[in-house]
Amino acid sequence: MEAVSEQIVARHSGPLTGEVWVPGAKNSVLKLMATTLMTDGVTTLTNVPDIADVAIMSDLLAAIGVNAAWHPTRKRVLLLTNRGVITPVAPYELVERIRASINVLGPLLTRCGHVKLSLPGGDDFGSRPINMHLEGLEAMGATFEVRHGYVEAYADRLFGADITFDFPSVGATENILTAAVFAKGTTVIDNAAREPEISDLCNFLVAMGADIEGIGSSQLVIHGVERDSLRPVEHEVVPDRIQAATYIAAAAVTRGSIVLRNARCQHMEMLLKRFADMGLQITPRHDGMAVSAPERLRAIDCATLPYPGIATDYKPLIVTMLSVAEGVGIVTENLYPGRFRYVEELQRLGAEISTDGHHAVVRGVSRLCGAPVTAPDIRAGAALVVAGLAAEGETVITGVHHIDRGYDDLVGRLARLGADIERS
Ligand code: EPU
Repeated sequence: MEAVSEQIVARHSGPLTGEVWVPGAKNSVLKLMATTLMTDGVTTLTNVPDIADVAIMSDLLAAIGVNAAWHPTRKRVLLLTNRGVITPVAPYELVERIRASINVLGPLLTRCGHVKLSLPGGDDFGSRPINMHLEGLEAMGATFEVRHGYVEAYADRLFGADITFDFPSVGATENILTAAVFAKGTTVIDNAAREPEISDLCNFLVAMGADIEGIGSSQLVIHGVERDSLRPVEHEVVPDRIQAATYIAAAAVTRGSIVLRNARCQHMEMLLKRFADMGLQITPRHDGMAVSAPERLRAIDCATLPYPGIATDYKPLIVTMLSVAEGVGIVTENLYPGRFRYVEELQRLGAEISTDGHHAVVRGVSRLCGAPVTAPDIRAGAALVVAGLAAEGETVITGVHHIDRGYDDLVGRLARLGADIERS
């Protein structure tokens, strides 16, 4: 992993060209790692992104009883060793560093019958409750006590249940899904989230020996199996659609032409349609996709929605692209009302954006203008880096630790595509 350094310096860059490899998805690998709590032995994950959140999840798992280590010779391969000695306690100092720590709840409860978990923190863009996780597990027979900042869950054995979510929560779907694997009987999750990362988790569990139907749909049916019936496997992490979109956005604002190897068009369908409406030429290839931006982008309107809609995580990139597009675009946020903090930073670069509640109205300007800015969170941070490539002069981005949480060598990959960018 790159040493944590203070800032990224991005300068106005000509058209990006060349090829970039899309690493595995943060929002899949962290869940796969947590799921190794459910099976003894050595699990092998390939195409693992080298990001800070993987290191933090490794620390959390080490405290509970699974050791994660990079493979000595195979690049981007993580070995997770579970010797069967599990302490189902997730302490505050580790949990508060990473939202995905909530994903140990389902695996630990279903395996050990008891969990003590510090209430999770996460990103600084609004309240992120876990009521749906707890209600779902309660329906399966778990009981909870919340005190002193910890939630303690108990269930000698979980039982299959019919659970309908009000909203297709990613994290709640994952926790109920993993918990249901060892539950007695059948669990049906209706209005389940169906992000590609959820399908990746389902496929991983099935390869391990779980019995899951409806993968990729909004109804997941999980037939419980015995606690000792999972076995470790080797599994390739699904490519990261958000990192892929970041390189597309960088090509778009520099009017470049790049190839994304290992990108999956079918996981980004709705976004790619809207990118085409903005004037991008996108050609699927057997090993990914080619993207070129022959002319100035055109403005579009769009709204974030759960998958297969346009993910909230793409939004800072879209707003950045609209900042330099021809015309006015309105972006509506339907998931995290508070997730517009980076707008002020883009305004510092000369972007013309106004926000009103869930909406951002973006009037494209012909050129942004470099300035010092701060990354408020991971996705916004990456968008500011992209904006820096389109801004005259120099943009200095601080708060780089946010970007390091989920981007595997963003600066190196952009530099290899010809961007004028460095860490210092
Ligand atoms: N929600 C509830 N109650 C719950 C669960 C969720 O009200 O019990 C609400 C949340 O407050 C939020 C919305 O539902 O407003 C979405 O939450 P969801 O559970 O779907 O999201 P998550 O599992 O907390 C994951 C990703 C996020 C991504 C969202 C939405 C991980 C670790 N995080 O979060 O990714 O934005 O799904 O797609 O997988 C990121 O990678 O930068 C990131 C924030």
